[in-house]
Amino acid sequence: MLTILVANVILSVVGSLVIINVVPKFKDMFIKAHLSGVDLNKKNKPEIPEAAGVITSCIFLIVMFIFIPFPFSKHFFNKEWGFPHQEFVQFIAALLSICCMVLLGFADDVLNLKWRHKLLLPTVASLPLLMVYYTNINSTTIIIPKPLRFLFGHDMDLSALYYVYMGMLAVFCTNAINIYAGVNGLEVGQSVVIAGSLILFNVIELNGDCWPNHLFSLYFMIPFFCTSLALYQLNKYPARVFVGDTFCYFSGMTVAVVAILGHFSKTALLFFIPQIANFVFSLPQLFHLLPCPRHRLPRLNQETGYLHPSVFQFKEKSLNTLGLLVLRIYQVLGLVTVEHRQKDGELSQSTNCTLINLALKLSGPKHEKTLATSLMVLQVVCSGIAFIIRGIGSARGGGL
Ligand code: UD1
Ligand code: MG
Repeated sequence: MLTILVANVILSVVGSLVIINVVPKFKDMFIKAHLSGVDLNKKNKPEIPEAAGVITSCIFLIVMFIFIPFPFSKHFFNKEWGFPHQEFVQFIAALLSICCMVLLGFADDVLNLKWRHKLLLPTVASLPLLMVYYTNINSTTIIIPKPLRFLFGHDMDLSALYYVYMGMLAVFCTNAINIYAGVNGLEVGQSVVIAGSLILFNVIELNGDCWPNHLFSLYFMIPFFCTSLALYQLNKYPARVFVGDTFCYFSGMTVAVVAILGHFSKTALLFFIPQIANFVFSLPQLFHLLPCPRHRLPRLNQETGYLHPSVFQFKEKSLNTLGLLVLRIYQVLGLVTVEHRQKDGELSQSTNCTLINLALKLSGPKHEKTLATSLMVLQVVCSGIAFIIRGIGSARGGGL
């Protein structure tokens, strides 16, 4: 087992070195192909190559393809054990789903798809995985967390609903990372912390009964962590490349794949605390109860160079009752600042409903670099909290 993991680490490190050296060389090629974006929070508004995630994800896939023979090598030499076809199929299906997601994510970067398509893409990409889950595993029983057992009992068979849940997990992981964005380094930085946390969790669980699931997860998470860390070096403030939606989809799908096949989806979700908070907070804008501008990233004060929360404008009359109610609740809870632009109250504005804007609202304007660092620290702290919850859950036999 150790030799295989060492081979995985070596391949991953080589992959990350290739990324650091190769990605900057593609800069002109990406800009010529109009795969670029304006860094909106810089005074001089530089044009930066976008969708660098496509190179990272391809190198991740190459590392994984070279690695395929390693976990199965002992079966090549010792024919008596029989070849573990089920494990092999799971491995290949996991790669197929990630591969599909990279392709569809890149299509999004090139074609700028609409939000309804963005929701559909991860569902489509997760189908090969769900099919293999159905034929190989088909366990649709979940252990109920202890605080809810008085209602639902110890476990519950979700049957077909379990497949809906897994499809939704892929949709959530991909989009939650994509919408928690807009500050240099955040999309890939959060992925690095999530991957690091999952690696730590998997290593701890190697001592448990389900160690094969956690070993399987490590095979994917170590290369994912190393390649993402390399990309982070290029995307962190001041960004030399943008990662694009390709990376966000690739990242979310890779986590969803190991969580599904490793049977630890609830624990994996614990490492998404900031993303869940941002997603729930964003729901009124995502479902158009409140206006949702194309970009909700913070806005730059050209004079001070500091970032302030961005806003959306609205006429009270144009909001429906539910929209007004949600806005009022957010305002009372101190989550948004609402201002009246015209004296008659005709035109008003509110800060956008994202965690990044909330952080700026609570802590005051910040430089982009400071904000990015604070959000990374928040992600690490939330991972710490996740480990504590997980620890308490397993000590009580909570089945997280
Ligand atoms: C999501 C968010 C959007 C946010 C955008 C920023 C929702 C519903 N959508 O949209 O509010 O503004 O991500 O990534 O919440 N950019 C920067 N600096 C950065 C990162 C991105 O200026 O550090 C800008 C660049 O112009 C870049 C663009 O954002 O070209 C990328 O946006 P894109 O990934 O296409 O936005 P969405 O994922 O659709
Ligand atoms: Mg995006």
